[in-house]
Amino acid sequence: MKIYSTSSMFVVAVITASLFSLGWILLGGNDTPEKADPATLAKGKTLYDDICATCHGINGNGDGVLAANLQTKPRNFTSGTFKFRSTLSGQLPTDEDLSITIKSGTHSTAMTTFETFSPQQIWALVQYIKTFSPRFSDSNEYPLKTISYGNEIPFTRESIAKGRKAYVEMQCNKCHGDAGEGDGPSAESLVDNWGDPIQPSDLTNLSALKFATSPAEIFRTFATGLDGTPMPSYSGAMPDSAMWELADYVYSLQTHQGYYEPIRVEETK
Ligand code: HEC
Ligand code: HEC
Repeated sequence: MKIYSTSSMFVVAVITASLFSLGWILLGGNDTPEKADPATLAKGKTLYDDICATCHGINGNGDGVLAANLQTKPRNFTSGTFKFRSTLSGQLPTDEDLSITIKSGTHSTAMTTFETFSPQQIWALVQYIKTFSPRFSDSNEYPLKTISYGNEIPFTRESIAKGRKAYVEMQCNKCHGDAGEGDGPSAESLVDNWGDPIQPSDLTNLSALKFATSPAEIFRTFATGLDGTPMPSYSGAMPDSAMWELADYVYSLQTHQGYYEPIRVEETK
């Protein structure tokens, strides 16, 4: 009996310790401001000045020499506002979010992929671009809260049809249009936070999309919203299962396969 209880106590201790360290790994850097060492920041600055400043500007203002000729302007890093995040609307992106952007770029814009950088180089760039906005060192901005995905559902004709209803109920069509082509009644004259004109995406044109090219990425896009743009956040606006149905419908628009063709409003009435 005594041996039994000692060993179960040991098991409990091991499980507790592993959960604790798992939690620590998952939350590392998102709980408090990350303090990068001077050598990392110096490395990040050298890379940034050489490669990124032509677009993003030497001081991170988004005013590099190439900026004037670009239709989608390079991000101004000083306000700490980012489109691509896993965090709730209005929050800073995680370090991981920023490294994904640098590695993968944003498709269909001048922000290309930087896949050849080593993980250390990406890390140094992430830490350096964070120095442009005081928000990243303000402990009031933390902990960062990431969106919850719930359980992904199977991609079926039924999920698409339900998602189509959510698309109309949530009034996505006001901006993105009834068939998702980016031509809804509110699409005209939208501007972003930096004062530049912006169009709702044509959700049927895969090659024009920036990030949202899988149901999970579509889910993330409308859950977090694209901060700095009129694209709102819908986190908590409907149950997770309805969010997945909507993601499936939007995915069906961009994949154009067989019965995943756009379902027009007339058909669902
Ligand atoms: C040729 C121009 C160009 C270069 C070079 C460039 N960028 Fe960008 N970058 C852009 C543009 C344009 C955007 C805006 C994309 C958008 O708003 O959809 C952007 C956006 C970003 C974003 C923000 C995405 C978001 O979530 O809002 C980050 C982070 C970023 N760039 C980092 C970098 C880093 C780091 C480098 C250098 C390794 C770099 N960029 C080099 C043009 C460039
Ligand atoms: C007030 C207008 C508005 C509404 C309402 C709106 N969007 Fe958007 N949406 C935008 C704009 C503007 C963009 C383009 C942002 C950009 O290019 O950076 C966008 C972009 C997107 C993208 C593409 C991002 C990418 O990877 O290129 C998806 C997916 C999307 N919206 C889905 C939705 C869904 C689903 C809804 C409804 C739940 C919705 N939107 C409601 C304005 C809107």
